[in-house]
Amino acid sequence: MQRIAVINQKGGVGKTTTTVNLGAALAQRGYRVLLLDLDPQANLTVHVDKRPDLESNTLTNLLIEDAPLAELVQPTSSANLFVVPSDTSLAGVEQVLANRIGRETILREALDAFPAAKDFDILLMDCPPSLGVLSANALVAAHHVLIPMQAEYLSLQGMAKLMEVVQLVQKRLNQQLKIAAVLPCMVDARTNLSVEVLREIDTHFGSLLCKSRIRNNVKLAEAPSFGRTIFEHAPDSNGARDYEQFADEFLAMIGSPMPATRSTNAGGSPTPTVAPQAPDDDAAAEGSA
Ligand SMILES: Nc1ncnc2c1ncn2[C@@H]1O[C@H](COP(=O)(O)OP(=O)(O)O)[C@@H](O)[C@H]1O
Ligand SMILES: [Mg+2]
Repeated sequence: MQRIAVINQKGGVGKTTTTVNLGAALAQRGYRVLLLDLDPQANLTVHVDKRPDLESNTLTNLLIEDAPLAELVQPTSSANLFVVPSDTSLAGVEQVLANRIGRETILREALDAFPAAKDFDILLMDCPPSLGVLSANALVAAHHVLIPMQAEYLSLQGMAKLMEVVQLVQKRLNQQLKIAAVLPCMVDARTNLSVEVLREIDTHFGSLLCKSRIRNNVKLAEAPSFGRTIFEHAPDSNGARDYEQFADEFLAMIGSPMPATRSTNAGGSPTPTVAPQAPDDDAAAEGSA
């Protein structure tokens, strides 16, 4: 199972949208994908149609009580796409773990001990907008780092700090960690602003900058409120096309694993029986781009 941390300590840059829709694009191609919600705001949990307030088994149980990961994995409405939900109790984790020795390695240990890891191809970890213990757990557990970036002024602000933390984790706790890519999100190619910002990101990151671009697309912004991925909500939208295209580039970046064909259930969870839903609204009526 390839483990990817989707991280940027800035909020609202496209981390959760990328985690859900990249995951869904990979799941459609037959990869077994596990999404992990590491943000106490639980946006990812809501995006895949779970109710954080009703969840009794969340990532908090794993981080505080050493609950086995297998007990936390749930199917979603998309085939091959699974989730470990979070809820607001995750906000208290940083404090509870503050004095605990080895607090940054809890998630890695849980993943190493996860018996169903071989039943999943890809793990995507959606990080909170901070560089605390939760993000540290993701970086320590990860093989690759994916950095979504909003194409706007000041988007590079904070990048030096993020790189510093990644390098520190590489040096002390996880030598195999690699920065896979920087993905520009919410790009509006019609504005000089986006073009200029992309040039700036290119100068800064060079070959790490993805060729794919996630354009501004209202369908991507709508999908979470329906608890649907973009492929369930608006499969013909630019948002769906952009994440499809990025999935190709992403697979090449992480070394194109072959999707495992399996008949067994993963994580002790039932294989989802609900087929991806057709969108109710007219996907052809693109709101933007
Ligand atoms: N490409 C896009 N086009 C339009 N809206 C987007 C796009 N990507 C994300 N959004 C919206 O922008 C907001 C922030 O995105 P989100 O993925 O939640 O960021 P983060 O997880 O980094 O805080 C959300 O309301 C989301 O629906
Ligand atoms: Mg988020």
